[in-house]
Amino acid sequence: MINWKVKEQGFCPDQMINNGNKFLIGNGYMGVRGTLEEFRKEELVAINLAGIYDRAGEGWREPLNAPNGLYTLLKVDGEVYSLPGAAPKEHCIGLDYRRALFSRKTTWKSPRGNVTIQAERFASLEEPHLLAMKYCILTDFHADVELITGIDADVWDINGPHYDAFSFHEEAGRLIAVGTTHESRDQVCVAEGCQTNFISEHKLHIDDRSIMRRMSFVTDAARSFEVTKWIAVYTSKDSDDFEQQAIRLVNDHMKSGYEASRCAHIRKWEEKWAVSEVMIEGDDEAMEALNYSLYHLHSIAPRHSDSLSIAARGLSGQTYKGAVFWDTEMFMLDFFLYTEPEVARTLLRYRIDTLEGAKNKARSYGCEGAFYAWESQEGGYDACSDYNVTDVFTGRPMRTYFKDKQIHISSAVVYGIIKYIDYTGDYSILLEGGAETIIECAKFYYSLLLKKVNKNCYELHDVIGPDEYHERVNNNGYTNRMAKYTFDQAVWVLDKLCELQEDVSERICAMYEREKLKQQFEDASQKLYIPQPDEKGIIEQFDGYKTLEDVSVETVKARLLNEKEYWGGAYGVATHTQIIKQADVAAWLALFPTDFSKDILLANWHYYEPKTEHGSSLSACMYALLACKCDMPDRAYPFFIKSASADLTGHGKQWAGLIYIGGTHPAAAGGAYMTAINGFGGLHFKDGELKVKPQLPPTWKKLRFKIRHRGVLYQIDETHDDMLIKKCEG
Ligand code: BGC
Repeated sequence: MINWKVKEQGFCPDQMINNGNKFLIGNGYMGVRGTLEEFRKEELVAINLAGIYDRAGEGWREPLNAPNGLYTLLKVDGEVYSLPGAAPKEHCIGLDYRRALFSRKTTWKSPRGNVTIQAERFASLEEPHLLAMKYCILTDFHADVELITGIDADVWDINGPHYDAFSFHEEAGRLIAVGTTHESRDQVCVAEGCQTNFISEHKLHIDDRSIMRRMSFVTDAARSFEVTKWIAVYTSKDSDDFEQQAIRLVNDHMKSGYEASRCAHIRKWEEKWAVSEVMIEGDDEAMEALNYSLYHLHSIAPRHSDSLSIAARGLSGQTYKGAVFWDTEMFMLDFFLYTEPEVARTLLRYRIDTLEGAKNKARSYGCEGAFYAWESQEGGYDACSDYNVTDVFTGRPMRTYFKDKQIHISSAVVYGIIKYIDYTGDYSILLEGGAETIIECAKFYYSLLLKKVNKNCYELHDVIGPDEYHERVNNNGYTNRMAKYTFDQAVWVLDKLCELQEDVSERICAMYEREKLKQQFEDASQKLYIPQPDEKGIIEQFDGYKTLEDVSVETVKARLLNEKEYWGGAYGVATHTQIIKQADVAAWLALFPTDFSKDILLANWHYYEPKTEHGSSLSACMYALLACKCDMPDRAYPFFIKSASADLTGHGKQWAGLIYIGGTHPAAAGGAYMTAINGFGGLHFKDGELKVKPQLPPTWKKLRFKIRHRGVLYQIDETHDDMLIKKCEG
């Protein structure tokens, strides 16, 4: 039986930041960190908003955190009862991830008796602008209570402050805070409404960073004193009428009541699980970690939009600048494609709509076509800076080349679009900008090809592959293979456009010199150098990789002078060695297993895995997938568990140099799903048909999952030696 609850008993200050991620709730529009109601920016409270960014001064551009309408502080007999300040007698926080409900219960011993706070909250999946909370106070004596609750606009920022000004006011009992951002003068509005099951004296208190009501009342031991809070968040990007909409939403929900909104929210989650829950008989740990990962993916899916993507740290805060990386297409896409293809379309639409940004970026490097942002924000703006890491010793920014050289990003966009088309059979995306996107990405790679005078092949030089510890290398196998893939897909698109014979496709064909481009791409695909296995079957990650120092991960780690030191860059401990940050050749082989024989796949798994630090949460699942392709589900298993439990354990890296990079890990969550379904489940498509080839880990007795394929929902049951694919009713 699956236990859908994650809990933490007792209060441990060291876990505060981690718990913010682990107990996160969200609905794609906003993510609310798993922090307590009395917490403030020092405890990294964040109501992180999707797709709206700001830049303050010279700092990095990052997504906005909304003012915190959940804020509530309890005073009893004049004393503050809050964490982390006052040590509790008992404390527990929990996340019911089936129903996406966060809860806390804390009891303190006061001089006159016990004081307990019990609270529950959710970010409505039904209504993306809505947060709701029930907060109860229980005492076993007549306590003089002052409850301060309202909107705390002193938000946590990494590179803020992002709000130049706030306006606060009260309107018919609703508290309203509107912040205006620094760069683009966007406005973020939070409206809060509050209902109680008791009578109290109210006083309104407004200062330059908050609007609060102070309620005074006396409790008795017989009952619970309940405060229900409704919080609506809107921005000027949502509508011109954002403030009135926020107030209306609060009012409507106050009328229908907490239970009604909670039920609607839970119903929505049930709808999601009805399609996406994965059952594993024989391994509860794996089943729970996997479904918990899927919970996170659901919580950040941008269902409120038709053109938006997911940030590398989801909606857990401003780390990684709230930017979109290759993580979305290469790691998260499959989950949405199989369970909610409309979301997959929204993610890809974001790339199509940011094509102009990618073309500008290519142009700025003197290239043609589309070079997608390594760290993409709205409009395709590349948030990646030239100095993305700070040296821990000197405190100086280090020149890194992620933005300039990680050219494999464009191929990830192509990969996503093609996968969507293959899977859904929906060609309309090609005619809505998908075709141009693919062609422009191919043009970009074409403009980068180098031809040596004495060789009849093309090369790609001065790049960074997935392994970021080795910058500016030549002929990274993964990159070259993905560029070849892009050329092939562009050729396919150019043919397909003719076949579709729609006005739009004719227009696109006329726009490009179709025949000429096709020939160029065909030639490029044929002649692009793809590193081949040596006599031992090993594919060199990039030119000269094998000449680097051959040492173990432990040796390299032992050379660190500071645990936060960055391993790559000019002087990093890994730079001059064969130690790599994450799956690179392994990623290539996991994506294209038919490029080589199984022996070659296996040889490379064994060669590269011990050389991999797994310093990125994107690494483990690629090794797990490749292990499955090599018929080694037992070897895949620990990597799968690592991926699936990335946010349960919180063991991921927290620092890159002096930069905090913590948060949730949706790519690892998506990678765990890919491993379970494509790897262990062996799901694949042949001639448009669903097929499976079970590769279950030894302890798994049965794997059951559902997927939507071309409009039909299927349930798939697999054991070690049997399988059943059946259509679901309805
Ligand atoms: C990894 C990248 C990844 C990024 C965001 C980096 O540490 O090396 O591959 O895209 O994190 O998750």
